[in-house]
Amino acid sequence: MPDQTTTIVIFGASGDLTTHKLAPALADLYAKGRLGPDIQIVGVSRTDMTADEFRASFYEGFGDESDFPPSPDFWNNLADRVHSCYGDVTAPDGLLDLQRVLANIESPDRPANRLYYLALAPFLFAPTVATLGRAGFQKEDGCWRRVVVEKPFGVNLQTAHELNEAVHQVFAEHQVYRIDHYLGKETVQNLLVFRFANAIFEPLWSRNYIDNIQITVAESVSIAERASYYDRAGVLRDMFQSHLLQLLAVVAMEPPSTFEADTLRNEKVKVLESVRHIPARDASLRAVHGQYDGYLDEPGVPPDSRTPTYAALRLDIDNWRWQGVPFYLRSGKALSEKHTEVLIQFRRPPHLIFPQGSSGDITSNTLSICLQPNEGVHLEFQAKTPDSLLDLRPVNLEFHYEDSFGGQEIPDAYERLLLDALNGDASLFIRSDEIEQSWSIMDPLIEGLSDPSTRPPEIYDLGTEGPFSADDFLARDGRAWLSKCLGG
Ligand code: BG6
Repeated sequence: MPDQTTTIVIFGASGDLTTHKLAPALADLYAKGRLGPDIQIVGVSRTDMTADEFRASFYEGFGDESDFPPSPDFWNNLADRVHSCYGDVTAPDGLLDLQRVLANIESPDRPANRLYYLALAPFLFAPTVATLGRAGFQKEDGCWRRVVVEKPFGVNLQTAHELNEAVHQVFAEHQVYRIDHYLGKETVQNLLVFRFANAIFEPLWSRNYIDNIQITVAESVSIAERASYYDRAGVLRDMFQSHLLQLLAVVAMEPPSTFEADTLRNEKVKVLESVRHIPARDASLRAVHGQYDGYLDEPGVPPDSRTPTYAALRLDIDNWRWQGVPFYLRSGKALSEKHTEVLIQFRRPPHLIFPQGSSGDITSNTLSICLQPNEGVHLEFQAKTPDSLLDLRPVNLEFHYEDSFGGQEIPDAYERLLLDALNGDASLFIRSDEIEQSWSIMDPLIEGLSDPSTRPPEIYDLGTEGPFSADDFLARDGRAWLSKCLGG
Protein backbone atom coordinates (compact mmCIF):
# COMPACT_ATOMS: atom_id res chain seq x y z
CA MET A 1 0.00 0.00 0.00
CA PRO A 2 1.47 3.38 -0.95
CA ASP A 3 0.65 5.02 2.38
CA GLN A 4 2.55 2.41 4.37
CA THR A 5 6.26 1.83 4.84
CA THR A 6 8.00 -1.44 5.56
CA THR A 7 11.10 -2.11 7.64
CA ILE A 8 12.98 -5.39 7.62
CA VAL A 9 14.89 -5.90 10.87
CA ILE A 10 17.50 -8.63 10.66
CA PHE A 11 18.76 -9.97 13.99
CA GLY A 12 22.13 -11.62 13.44
CA ALA A 13 23.19 -9.18 10.75
CA SER A 14 26.88 -10.06 10.91
CA GLY A 15 26.28 -13.80 10.60
CA ASP A 16 26.85 -16.10 7.63
CA LEU A 17 23.18 -16.50 6.81
CA THR A 18 22.72 -12.75 6.46
CA THR A 19 25.92 -12.26 4.48
CA HIS A 20 25.51 -15.21 2.13
CA LYS A 21 21.77 -15.56 1.77
CA LEU A 22 19.61 -12.72 3.10
CA ALA A 23 21.57 -9.70 1.86
CA PRO A 24 22.04 -11.13 -1.67
CA ALA A 25 18.37 -12.12 -1.82
CA LEU A 26 17.27 -8.64 -0.71
CA ALA A 27 19.70 -7.00 -3.15
CA ASP A 28 18.19 -9.07 -5.98
CA LEU A 29 14.65 -8.29 -4.90
CA TYR A 30 15.49 -4.61 -4.76
CA ALA A 31 17.09 -4.78 -8.20
CA LYS A 32 13.90 -6.38 -9.54
CA GLY A 33 11.82 -3.58 -8.01
CA ARG A 34 9.98 -6.00 -5.72
CA LEU A 35 10.65 -4.39 -2.36
CA GLY A 36 8.57 -1.30 -2.93
CA PRO A 37 9.68 2.32 -2.81
CA ASP A 38 9.52 2.64 0.97
CA ILE A 39 11.59 -0.26 2.18
CA GLN A 40 14.16 0.13 4.97
CA ILE A 41 16.51 -2.59 6.17
CA VAL A 42 18.10 -2.59 9.62
CA GLY A 43 20.80 -5.04 10.62
CA VAL A 44 21.04 -5.70 14.36
CA SER A 45 24.09 -7.38 15.79
CA ARG A 46 26.13 -7.70 18.95
CA THR A 47 29.35 -6.94 17.11
CA ASP A 48 30.43 -3.44 16.26
CA MET A 49 29.36 -3.86 12.66
CA THR A 50 29.15 -0.51 10.91
CA ALA A 51 26.45 0.34 8.41
CA ASP A 52 29.11 0.28 5.68
CA GLU A 53 30.15 -3.23 6.63
CA PHE A 54 26.54 -4.31 6.53
CA ARG A 55 26.06 -2.58 3.17
CA ALA A 56 29.03 -4.49 1.79
CA SER A 57 27.05 -7.77 2.04
CA PHE A 58 24.40 -6.20 -0.17
CA TYR A 59 26.94 -4.88 -2.63
CA GLU A 60 28.50 -8.30 -3.01
CA GLY A 61 25.01 -9.74 -3.29
CA PHE A 62 24.72 -8.43 -6.80
CA GLY A 63 26.16 -11.63 -8.13
CA ASP A 64 24.54 -11.59 -11.52
CA GLU A 65 26.76 -10.13 -14.23
CA SER A 66 23.86 -8.17 -15.66
CA ASP A 67 23.48 -6.09 -12.53
CA PHE A 68 27.04 -6.05 -11.15
CA PRO A 69 28.51 -3.62 -10.49
CA PRO A 70 25.27 -1.73 -9.87
CA SER A 71 25.11 1.80 -11.25
CA PRO A 72 26.19 4.43 -8.66
CA ASP A 73 22.70 5.94 -8.53
CA PHE A 74 21.04 2.64 -8.04
CA TRP A 75 23.56 1.58 -5.42
CA ASN A 76 23.33 4.84 -3.46
CA ASN A 77 19.60 4.53 -3.44
CA LEU A 78 19.75 1.05 -1.94
CA ALA A 79 22.62 1.88 0.43
CA ASP A 80 20.58 4.77 1.89
CA ARG A 81 18.00 2.24 2.99
CA VAL A 82 20.43 -0.10 4.71
CA HIS A 83 21.18 0.70 8.37
CA SER A 84 22.85 -1.07 11.24
CA CYS A 85 22.75 -0.88 14.99
CA TYR A 86 23.91 -2.60 18.13
CA GLY A 87 21.44 -4.90 19.80
CA ASP A 88 21.61 -7.47 22.56
CA VAL A 89 18.46 -9.52 22.60
CA THR A 90 19.33 -11.03 25.97
CA ALA A 91 19.60 -7.69 27.81
CA PRO A 92 16.47 -5.97 29.20
CA ASP A 93 17.25 -2.71 27.40
CA GLY A 94 19.17 -4.37 24.56
CA LEU A 95 16.96 -2.88 21.86
CA LEU A 96 17.34 0.79 22.74
CA ASP A 97 19.59 1.46 19.75
CA LEU A 98 17.16 -0.29 17.46
CA GLN A 99 14.33 1.81 18.84
CA ARG A 100 16.32 4.96 18.05
CA VAL A 101 17.08 3.84 14.50
CA LEU A 102 13.46 2.89 13.89
CA ALA A 103 12.27 6.26 15.21
CA ASN A 104 14.60 7.93 12.70
CA ILE A 105 13.64 5.98 9.63
CA GLU A 106 9.94 5.31 10.20
CA SER A 107 7.58 8.21 9.72
CA PRO A 108 5.19 8.82 12.65
CA ASP A 109 2.47 9.77 10.12
CA ARG A 110 2.49 6.57 8.14
CA PRO A 111 1.82 3.03 9.35
CA ALA A 112 5.14 1.20 9.50
CA ASN A 113 5.05 -2.53 8.86
CA ARG A 114 7.89 -4.62 10.21
CA LEU A 115 9.39 -7.98 9.36
CA TYR A 116 11.71 -9.27 12.08
CA TYR A 117 14.08 -11.91 10.76
CA LEU A 118 15.75 -14.08 13.39
CA ALA A 119 18.98 -15.09 11.63
CA LEU A 120 20.41 -16.10 14.97
CA ALA A 121 21.78 -19.08 16.82
CA PRO A 122 18.71 -21.16 17.77
CA PHE A 123 19.18 -20.69 21.52
CA LEU A 124 18.48 -16.99 20.96
CA PHE A 125 15.08 -17.47 19.25
CA ALA A 126 13.00 -17.55 22.45
CA PRO A 127 14.90 -14.72 24.25
CA THR A 128 14.64 -12.52 21.15
CA VAL A 129 10.92 -13.05 20.83
CA ALA A 130 10.48 -12.29 24.54
CA THR A 131 12.54 -9.10 24.21
CA LEU A 132 10.49 -8.02 21.20
CA GLY A 133 7.36 -8.66 23.24
CA ARG A 134 8.58 -6.59 26.21
CA ALA A 135 9.32 -3.71 23.87
CA GLY A 136 5.80 -4.01 22.39
CA PHE A 137 7.29 -4.65 18.95
CA GLN A 138 4.66 -7.22 18.04
CA LYS A 139 1.66 -4.89 18.24
CA GLU A 140 -0.20 -4.36 15.00
CA ASP A 141 -1.93 -0.97 15.11
CA GLY A 142 -3.02 -0.33 11.56
CA CYS A 143 0.11 -2.05 10.26
CA TRP A 144 1.53 -5.56 10.34
CA ARG A 145 4.32 -7.14 12.38
CA ARG A 146 5.74 -10.52 11.36
CA VAL A 147 8.56 -12.67 12.61
CA VAL A 148 10.58 -15.12 10.52
CA VAL A 149 12.15 -17.92 12.56
CA GLU A 150 15.00 -19.89 11.03
CA LYS A 151 15.64 -23.59 11.43
CA PRO A 152 16.32 -25.61 13.49
CA PHE A 153 13.05 -24.97 15.27
CA GLY A 154 13.77 -26.94 18.45
CA VAL A 155 15.86 -30.08 18.72
CA ASN A 156 13.00 -32.47 19.46
CA LEU A 157 9.25 -32.45 19.95
CA GLN A 158 9.41 -31.07 23.46
CA THR A 159 11.74 -28.16 22.69
CA ALA A 160 9.83 -27.36 19.49
CA HIS A 161 6.62 -27.29 21.52
CA GLU A 162 8.22 -25.04 24.14
CA LEU A 163 9.51 -22.73 21.44
CA ASN A 164 6.07 -22.61 19.85
CA GLU A 165 4.62 -21.66 23.22
CA ALA A 166 7.27 -18.98 23.77
CA VAL A 167 6.62 -17.53 20.32
CA HIS A 168 2.85 -17.63 20.79
CA GLN A 169 3.12 -15.69 24.04
CA VAL A 170 4.18 -12.73 21.94
CA PHE A 171 3.07 -13.30 18.36
CA ALA A 172 -0.15 -14.81 17.04
CA GLU A 173 0.32 -17.72 14.63
CA HIS A 174 -0.62 -15.56 11.63
CA GLN A 175 2.43 -13.39 12.42
CA VAL A 176 4.88 -16.30 12.54
CA TYR A 177 6.85 -17.52 9.51
CA ARG A 178 8.93 -20.65 10.26
CA ILE A 179 11.28 -21.07 7.42
CA ASP A 180 12.42 -24.19 5.59
CA HIS A 181 14.35 -22.88 2.63
CA TYR A 182 13.65 -26.03 0.60
CA LEU A 183 10.07 -24.87 0.16
CA GLY A 184 11.38 -21.69 -1.45
CA LYS A 185 13.28 -23.61 -4.10
CA GLU A 186 11.76 -23.07 -7.51
CA THR A 187 11.80 -26.78 -8.25
CA VAL A 188 10.05 -27.73 -5.02
CA GLN A 189 7.24 -25.37 -5.93
CA ASN A 190 7.27 -26.94 -9.35
CA LEU A 191 6.54 -30.26 -7.69
CA LEU A 192 3.21 -28.78 -6.62
CA VAL A 193 2.58 -27.48 -10.12
CA PHE A 194 3.61 -30.80 -11.65
CA ARG A 195 1.16 -32.66 -9.45
CA PHE A 196 -1.75 -30.27 -9.38
CA ALA A 197 -1.68 -28.39 -12.69
CA ASN A 198 -1.51 -31.56 -14.82
CA ALA A 199 -4.28 -34.10 -15.03
CA ILE A 200 -2.21 -37.00 -16.34
CA PHE A 201 -0.05 -37.79 -13.30
CA GLU A 202 -2.52 -37.66 -10.42
CA PRO A 203 -4.45 -40.82 -11.43
CA LEU A 204 -1.15 -42.74 -11.29
CA TRP A 205 -0.09 -41.16 -8.00
CA SER A 206 -1.02 -43.93 -5.58
CA ARG A 207 -0.44 -47.47 -4.43
CA ASN A 208 -2.28 -48.71 -7.52
CA TYR A 209 0.63 -47.85 -9.81
CA ILE A 210 3.58 -46.86 -7.63
CA ASP A 211 5.95 -49.41 -6.14
CA ASN A 212 8.10 -47.09 -4.04
CA ILE A 213 9.25 -43.48 -3.75
CA GLN A 214 12.84 -42.45 -3.12
CA ILE A 215 13.89 -39.03 -1.87
CA THR A 216 17.59 -38.25 -2.05
CA VAL A 217 19.29 -35.13 -0.75
CA ALA A 218 22.98 -35.76 -1.32
CA GLU A 219 25.63 -33.18 -0.51
CA SER A 220 29.27 -33.13 -1.47
CA VAL A 221 30.19 -30.63 1.25
CA SER A 222 31.46 -31.72 4.64
CA ILE A 223 30.44 -30.01 7.87
CA ALA A 224 33.25 -27.45 7.43
CA GLU A 225 33.38 -25.12 10.45
CA ARG A 226 29.96 -26.03 11.79
CA ALA A 227 30.90 -28.71 14.33
CA SER A 228 29.48 -26.86 17.31
CA TYR A 229 26.03 -26.97 15.71
CA TYR A 230 26.30 -30.08 13.57
CA ASP A 231 27.69 -32.50 16.10
CA ARG A 232 24.66 -31.95 18.29
CA ALA A 233 22.24 -32.06 15.37
CA GLY A 234 23.44 -34.77 13.01
CA VAL A 235 21.85 -35.45 9.68
CA LEU A 236 18.49 -36.55 11.10
CA ARG A 237 17.83 -33.23 12.78
CA ASP A 238 19.66 -31.10 10.26
CA MET A 239 18.10 -32.51 7.09
CA PHE A 240 15.42 -35.14 7.70
CA GLN A 241 13.19 -33.40 10.24
CA SER A 242 13.00 -30.38 7.99
CA HIS A 243 13.88 -30.65 4.30
CA LEU A 244 13.27 -34.35 3.65
CA LEU A 245 9.99 -34.53 5.54
CA GLN A 246 8.81 -31.40 3.74
CA LEU A 247 9.64 -33.01 0.40
CA LEU A 248 7.81 -36.14 1.47
CA ALA A 249 4.78 -34.08 2.49
CA VAL A 250 4.67 -32.24 -0.84
CA VAL A 251 4.97 -35.50 -2.80
CA ALA A 252 2.47 -37.47 -0.73
CA MET A 253 -0.21 -34.98 0.33
CA GLU A 254 -3.74 -34.94 -1.03
CA PRO A 255 -4.61 -32.17 -3.49
CA PRO A 256 -5.47 -29.03 -1.49
CA SER A 257 -8.60 -27.15 -2.57
CA THR A 258 -6.71 -23.86 -3.05
CA PHE A 259 -3.13 -22.66 -3.07
CA GLU A 260 -3.49 -20.90 0.24
CA ALA A 261 -1.50 -21.15 3.41
CA ASP A 262 -4.07 -22.96 5.49
CA THR A 263 -5.48 -25.36 2.92
CA LEU A 264 -2.01 -26.32 1.77
CA ARG A 265 -0.64 -26.76 5.26
CA ASN A 266 -3.73 -28.70 6.40
CA GLU A 267 -2.94 -31.31 3.75
CA LYS A 268 0.73 -31.45 4.69
CA VAL A 269 -0.16 -31.93 8.35
CA LYS A 270 -2.63 -34.69 7.45
CA VAL A 271 -0.06 -36.67 5.55
CA LEU A 272 2.59 -36.19 8.25
CA GLU A 273 0.04 -37.44 10.78
CA SER A 274 -0.35 -40.57 8.68
CA VAL A 275 3.35 -41.41 8.69
CA ARG A 276 3.76 -44.57 10.75
CA HIS A 277 5.92 -43.90 13.80
CA ILE A 278 8.92 -46.13 14.18
CA PRO A 279 9.49 -47.03 17.83
CA ALA A 280 13.03 -46.40 19.11
CA ARG A 281 13.64 -50.15 19.55
CA ASP A 282 13.02 -50.72 15.81
CA ALA A 283 15.12 -47.80 14.60
CA SER A 284 18.03 -49.92 13.44
CA LEU A 285 15.69 -52.13 11.41
CA ARG A 286 14.10 -49.18 9.64
CA ALA A 287 17.11 -46.95 9.21
CA VAL A 288 20.85 -47.04 8.66
CA HIS A 289 23.33 -44.39 9.58
CA GLY A 290 26.87 -43.53 8.59
CA GLN A 291 29.64 -41.10 9.33
CA TYR A 292 32.17 -39.91 6.79
CA ASP A 293 35.76 -40.92 7.27
CA GLY A 294 37.55 -37.99 8.85
CA TYR A 295 34.50 -36.54 10.59
CA LEU A 296 36.13 -37.15 13.98
CA ASP A 297 39.12 -35.04 12.89
CA GLU A 298 36.98 -32.02 12.03
CA PRO A 299 37.76 -29.12 14.40
CA GLY A 300 35.41 -29.19 17.36
CA VAL A 301 34.11 -32.74 16.92
CA PRO A 302 34.58 -34.92 20.04
CA PRO A 303 36.87 -37.90 19.31
CA ASP A 304 34.18 -40.43 20.23
CA SER A 305 31.25 -38.74 18.48
CA ARG A 306 28.70 -41.09 16.93
CA THR A 307 26.81 -38.30 15.22
CA PRO A 308 25.57 -39.53 11.85
CA THR A 309 26.45 -37.49 8.76
CA TYR A 310 24.44 -39.87 6.59
CA ALA A 311 21.17 -41.70 7.10
CA ALA A 312 18.75 -43.69 5.03
CA LEU A 313 15.35 -44.74 6.26
CA ARG A 314 12.07 -46.23 5.25
CA LEU A 315 8.83 -44.53 6.14
CA ASP A 316 5.34 -45.89 5.53
CA ILE A 317 2.21 -43.83 5.24
CA ASP A 318 -0.93 -45.33 6.69
CA ASN A 319 -3.66 -43.98 4.47
CA TRP A 320 -5.67 -45.20 1.49
CA ARG A 321 -3.43 -43.65 -1.12
CA TRP A 322 -0.08 -44.92 0.15
CA GLN A 323 -0.68 -48.11 2.10
CA GLY A 324 2.15 -50.53 1.25
CA VAL A 325 4.24 -48.02 -0.71
CA PRO A 326 7.59 -47.48 1.05
CA PHE A 327 9.11 -44.01 1.04
CA TYR A 328 12.88 -44.36 1.16
CA LEU A 329 14.70 -41.22 2.29
CA ARG A 330 18.45 -40.70 2.26
CA SER A 331 20.75 -37.79 2.85
CA GLY A 332 24.38 -37.34 3.66
CA LYS A 333 27.41 -35.09 3.60
CA ALA A 334 30.78 -35.54 1.87
CA LEU A 335 29.20 -37.67 -0.86
CA SER A 336 30.27 -37.86 -4.48
CA GLU A 337 27.96 -35.15 -5.82
CA LYS A 338 25.36 -32.66 -4.69
CA HIS A 339 21.97 -33.68 -5.93
CA THR A 340 18.40 -33.61 -4.76
CA GLU A 341 15.94 -35.92 -6.42
CA VAL A 342 12.50 -37.37 -5.95
CA LEU A 343 12.20 -40.65 -7.79
CA ILE A 344 8.96 -42.50 -8.29
CA GLN A 345 9.32 -46.11 -9.27
CA PHE A 346 6.18 -47.54 -10.81
CA ARG A 347 5.03 -51.13 -10.61
CA ARG A 348 6.21 -53.58 -13.23
CA PRO A 349 3.81 -54.54 -16.00
CA PRO A 350 1.48 -57.19 -14.56
CA HIS A 351 2.15 -59.63 -17.40
CA LEU A 352 4.95 -59.68 -19.98
CA ILE A 353 4.01 -60.74 -23.47
CA PHE A 354 7.56 -60.44 -24.81
CA PRO A 355 9.79 -63.50 -24.91
CA GLN A 356 12.08 -63.75 -21.91
CA GLY A 357 15.67 -62.90 -22.75
CA SER A 358 15.06 -61.01 -25.97
CA SER A 359 13.78 -58.10 -24.01
CA GLY A 360 16.56 -58.17 -21.43
CA ASP A 361 15.61 -57.44 -17.87
CA ILE A 362 12.74 -55.03 -18.23
CA THR A 363 13.00 -52.26 -15.68
CA SER A 364 9.88 -50.63 -14.34
CA ASN A 365 9.03 -47.07 -15.32
CA THR A 366 10.50 -44.29 -13.28
CA LEU A 367 9.61 -40.67 -12.98
CA SER A 368 12.47 -38.66 -11.64
CA ILE A 369 12.11 -35.08 -10.49
CA CYS A 370 15.53 -33.46 -10.23
CA LEU A 371 15.41 -30.55 -7.82
CA GLN A 372 19.04 -29.55 -7.98
CA PRO A 373 21.45 -29.03 -9.61
CA ASN A 374 20.22 -30.29 -13.04
CA GLU A 375 16.65 -29.10 -12.59
CA GLY A 376 14.26 -31.12 -14.67
CA VAL A 377 11.96 -34.13 -14.98
CA HIS A 378 12.73 -37.49 -16.62
CA LEU A 379 10.20 -40.15 -17.42
CA GLU A 380 11.77 -43.46 -18.29
CA PHE A 381 9.88 -46.05 -20.30
CA GLN A 382 10.64 -49.00 -22.56
CA ALA A 383 11.12 -48.72 -26.31
CA LYS A 384 11.97 -51.20 -29.03
CA THR A 385 15.53 -50.95 -30.34
CA PRO A 386 15.32 -50.25 -34.08
CA ASP A 387 16.11 -53.09 -36.43
CA SER A 388 16.07 -55.68 -33.67
CA LEU A 389 13.64 -58.54 -33.46
CA LEU A 390 12.32 -57.45 -30.14
CA ASP A 391 15.01 -55.89 -28.06
CA LEU A 392 13.70 -53.45 -25.53
CA ARG A 393 15.63 -50.62 -23.98
CA PRO A 394 14.72 -47.90 -21.48
CA VAL A 395 14.51 -44.40 -23.00
CA ASN A 396 13.65 -41.00 -21.56
CA LEU A 397 11.14 -38.25 -22.01
CA GLU A 398 12.95 -35.25 -20.60
CA PHE A 399 12.23 -31.74 -19.47
CA HIS A 400 15.12 -29.45 -18.52
CA TYR A 401 14.60 -26.00 -17.06
CA GLU A 402 17.59 -24.81 -18.98
CA ASP A 403 16.13 -25.82 -22.38
CA SER A 404 12.53 -24.85 -21.75
CA PHE A 405 13.16 -21.52 -20.04
CA GLY A 406 16.12 -20.37 -22.09
CA GLY A 407 18.64 -20.35 -19.28
CA GLN A 408 16.51 -17.96 -17.22
CA GLU A 409 18.08 -17.55 -13.79
CA ILE A 410 16.57 -19.71 -11.05
CA PRO A 411 16.29 -17.41 -8.04
CA ASP A 412 17.63 -18.42 -4.69
CA ALA A 413 15.05 -19.86 -2.30
CA TYR A 414 15.47 -16.97 0.13
CA GLU A 415 14.40 -14.48 -2.47
CA ARG A 416 11.02 -16.09 -2.85
CA LEU A 417 10.52 -16.68 0.86
CA LEU A 418 11.45 -13.14 1.89
CA LEU A 419 9.03 -11.79 -0.66
CA ASP A 420 6.25 -14.11 0.52
CA ALA A 421 6.81 -13.07 4.14
CA LEU A 422 6.63 -9.41 3.11
CA ASN A 423 3.43 -10.12 1.18
CA GLY A 424 1.90 -12.01 4.10
CA ASP A 425 1.74 -15.33 2.26
CA ALA A 426 2.64 -18.16 4.63
CA SER A 427 1.95 -21.01 2.16
CA LEU A 428 5.61 -21.92 1.90
CA PHE A 429 6.29 -21.62 5.63
CA ILE A 430 5.80 -24.25 8.32
CA ARG A 431 2.89 -24.08 10.74
CA SER A 432 3.33 -24.87 14.43
CA ASP A 433 1.46 -28.20 14.27
CA GLU A 434 3.42 -29.23 11.18
CA ILE A 435 6.76 -28.73 12.88
CA GLU A 436 5.65 -30.67 15.95
CA GLN A 437 4.36 -33.49 13.76
CA SER A 438 7.75 -33.75 12.00
CA TRP A 439 9.58 -33.95 15.31
CA SER A 440 7.23 -36.64 16.56
CA ILE A 441 8.25 -38.77 13.55
CA MET A 442 11.97 -38.16 14.01
CA ASP A 443 12.33 -38.28 17.81
CA PRO A 444 12.09 -42.07 18.33
CA LEU A 445 14.34 -42.71 15.33
CA ILE A 446 16.99 -40.36 16.66
CA GLU A 447 16.67 -41.88 20.11
CA GLY A 448 16.98 -45.43 18.78
CA LEU A 449 19.95 -44.76 16.53
CA SER A 450 21.87 -42.80 19.13
CA ASP A 451 21.48 -45.48 21.80
CA PRO A 452 25.11 -46.34 22.67
CA SER A 453 24.27 -50.03 22.99
CA THR A 454 23.36 -50.20 19.28
CA ARG A 455 25.59 -50.38 16.21
CA PRO A 456 27.52 -47.13 15.68
CA PRO A 457 27.28 -45.35 12.32
CA GLU A 458 29.14 -47.10 9.50
CA ILE A 459 32.21 -45.18 8.36
CA TYR A 460 32.07 -44.33 4.65
CA ASP A 461 34.71 -42.92 2.35
CA LEU A 462 34.59 -39.31 1.23
CA GLY A 463 33.26 -38.77 -2.27
CA THR A 464 31.31 -42.04 -2.39
CA GLU A 465 27.58 -42.83 -2.37
CA GLY A 466 27.61 -43.32 1.41
CA PRO A 467 27.74 -46.44 3.58
CA PHE A 468 27.37 -49.89 1.99
CA SER A 469 24.70 -50.72 4.54
CA ALA A 470 22.41 -48.23 2.76
CA ASP A 471 22.43 -50.49 -0.32
CA ASP A 472 21.90 -53.62 1.77
CA PHE A 473 19.03 -51.85 3.48
CA LEU A 474 17.09 -51.54 0.22
CA ALA A 475 18.26 -54.91 -1.06
CA ARG A 476 16.51 -56.47 1.96
CA ASP A 477 13.26 -55.11 0.51
CA GLY A 478 14.22 -56.41 -2.96
CA ARG A 479 14.91 -52.90 -4.22
CA ALA A 480 17.85 -50.66 -5.10
CA TRP A 481 18.53 -46.96 -4.92
CA LEU A 482 17.99 -45.31 -8.27
CA SER A 483 19.14 -41.99 -9.56
CA LYS A 484 18.10 -40.75 -12.95
CA CYS A 485 19.29 -37.18 -12.48
CA LEU A 486 22.86 -38.35 -12.56
CA GLY A 487 22.14 -40.92 -15.22
CA GLY A 488 22.53 -43.77 -12.70
C1 BG6 B 1 20.68 -26.49 5.67
C2 BG6 B 1 21.50 -27.44 6.49
O1 BG6 B 1 19.39 -26.35 6.22
O2 BG6 B 1 20.57 -26.98 4.33
C3 BG6 B 1 22.88 -27.65 5.86
O3 BG6 B 1 21.66 -26.92 7.80
C4 BG6 B 1 22.73 -28.07 4.42
O4 BG6 B 1 23.62 -28.61 6.58
C5 BG6 B 1 21.81 -27.13 3.66
O5 BG6 B 1 24.03 -28.09 3.83
C6 BG6 B 1 21.51 -27.66 2.27
O6 BG6 B 1 20.81 -26.69 1.54
P1 BG6 B 1 20.96 -26.57 -0.04
O7 BG6 B 1 20.05 -25.47 -0.41
O8 BG6 B 1 22.41 -26.29 -0.32
O9 BG6 B 1 20.55 -27.90 -0.59
